[in-house]
Amino acid sequence: MRLGFLTLALFPILGLAGSVSPGGVQSKTSYLVPSGSRITHVGDEIHVLDPDGTTVHPTPQISSRTPISSRQEESGYIAFAFWASPDQTSNVIASFNTTWTVPPDPETSNGQLVYYFNSINQQAGASTIIQPVLQWGVSPAGGGDYWSVASWYLFNGSEIECFTTPVRVNAGDVLHANIELTSTTAGTAYNYTVEFSNVPGTTLHVENAVEAYTAALETLEAYGVTSASDYPTGTTVFEDIQMRMQDGSVPSLMWGIQNDEADGISMVIDKDGAEGGRLTLVY
Ligand SMILES: *[C@@H]1O[C@H](CO)[C@@H](O)[C@H](O)[C@H]1NC(C)=O
Ligand SMILES: *[C@@H]1O[C@H](CO)[C@@H](O)[C@H](O)[C@H]1NC(C)=O
Ligand SMILES: *[C@@H]1O[C@H](CO)[C@@H](O)[C@H](O)[C@H]1NC(C)=O
Repeated sequence: MRLGFLTLALFPILGLAGSVSPGGVQSKTSYLVPSGSRITHVGDEIHVLDPDGTTVHPTPQISSRTPISSRQEESGYIAFAFWASPDQTSNVIASFNTTWTVPPDPETSNGQLVYYFNSINQQAGASTIIQPVLQWGVSPAGGGDYWSVASWYLFNGSEIECFTTPVRVNAGDVLHANIELTSTTAGTAYNYTVEFSNVPGTTLHVENAVEAYTAALETLEAYGVTSASDYPTGTTVFEDIQMRMQDGSVPSLMWGIQNDEADGISMVIDKDGAEGGRLTLVY
């Protein structure tokens, strides 16, 4: 385990990996949006624009929407690898890609919700996260007792969450999960696109975000697991991990690992680094 100040810097966001439990219901606002939608920050407001630019739900309407019960960000991280850049402000993550294969179906379905994702995160303060997510089970975005993928954006302390409609995928499918900085305004605002590049219908644009995304995660997160057979078996390999910073540099990507020992699942570092890195989840 490589713990240090970077770990401490990141932990206020994540909390500790908790034991598996059903996600708590918090008062949140959730937006299920069509693929290609733009979540645009306009001053203190967010505007949700559908792919043709029509405003779907401006901020004033948020409170009138019925919140969907949501997942808790502070618990349920079963095993994860994390990295936080020493430079927390100016040189943000410009590209972060990971490839993995959809695991075999779990042997049992007991209402569990299991997530796999790579993400970019803000280091300090709010739990703000941009993430392409593979899920088994029913999440606030939808889904069922099958594998599906969607792109997520949680911000403002996770008070607001946006996601594309989950697209069904199958065990054995190879997923290319990409997060890209597409433009920036003088280091004060950022446009990102998140998608599974080989799964149509999973594109989400996050525009004019002011948070500096300088931390990254590769994570297994779960809720409502009642037995080991609610997970897949074998291993899941996060591979071809690629990262670039805004200044074009290849970061010195050294993962820290946190495992929830009680579940007997671990994340193993096969290869550090931002050019073809590799991590393995062992069930
Ligand atoms: C962020 O959350 C706070 C409450 O924690 C709320 O007062 C504020 O309006 C929210 N901002 C946006 C942009 O939703
Ligand atoms: C983000 O993209 C929009 C166009 O979709 C553009 O108007 C805006 O200036 C861009 N913002 C940044 C920070 O690059
Ligand atoms: C991530 O994938 C995108 C789309 O394939 C590609 O344009 C980009 O160069 C990749 N990033 C890195 C750091 O390899």
